[in-house]
Amino acid sequence: MKKTLVLMSLLLGVTCAKADNMNPEDSVEYRQSAFRLMSFQLNVLNPMHRSQAYSEEEFAYRADLLSRLGRLAHEGFTDASRQVDSRTASRMWDNREDFDQRMQTFIDVTAQMAQSSEAGNDRQTRDLFRQTLQSCRSCHDQYRLD
Ligand code: HEC
Repeated sequence: MKKTLVLMSLLLGVTCAKADNMNPEDSVEYRQSAFRLMSFQLNVLNPMHRSQAYSEEEFAYRADLLSRLGRLAHEGFTDASRQVDSRTASRMWDNREDFDQRMQTFIDVTAQMAQSSEAGNDRQTRDLFRQTLQSCRSCHDQYRLD
């Protein structure tokens, strides 16, 4: 009984945290804004990657931001926003599980990258950075319209 209650409140918490109450146009604006901010982080991280400055405080900070922004972007993909014109390919809505999985992988990989950067683990951070770029690209190939 106690377990069920805890589970229920967790589920409710998750539902409330989602951006389901926004109107559909705002959801689209919300996710696009988060993606644009992600792009900005990469503009800072790319030159750091080239100069191998993986253990700088700035690197860890922006890796963490990417993970948080990934969560925000994900929240903006509400079911109601399907009808709004955007750059999301219609096949995304038919492959929701795969898309959610990719978003989650992005969120996890970037969180790990922040940790690994903080721990001064340069080699691992470099690998995770490559995985991050790969994650942006492959998802766009599948689900973003040009
Ligand atoms: C799991 C899928 C996925 C991942 C990961 C992802 N994107 Fe996207 N991105 C999308 C989709 C879908 C759109 C189209 C959003 C829309 O218009 O509805 C998009 C749109 C964008 C846009 C255009 C926003 C606008 O102004 O309309 C930018 C910029 C962008 N992504 C950058 C990035 C960057 C940088 C990364 C990695 C750091 C990234 N994305 C990772 C799926 C993804």
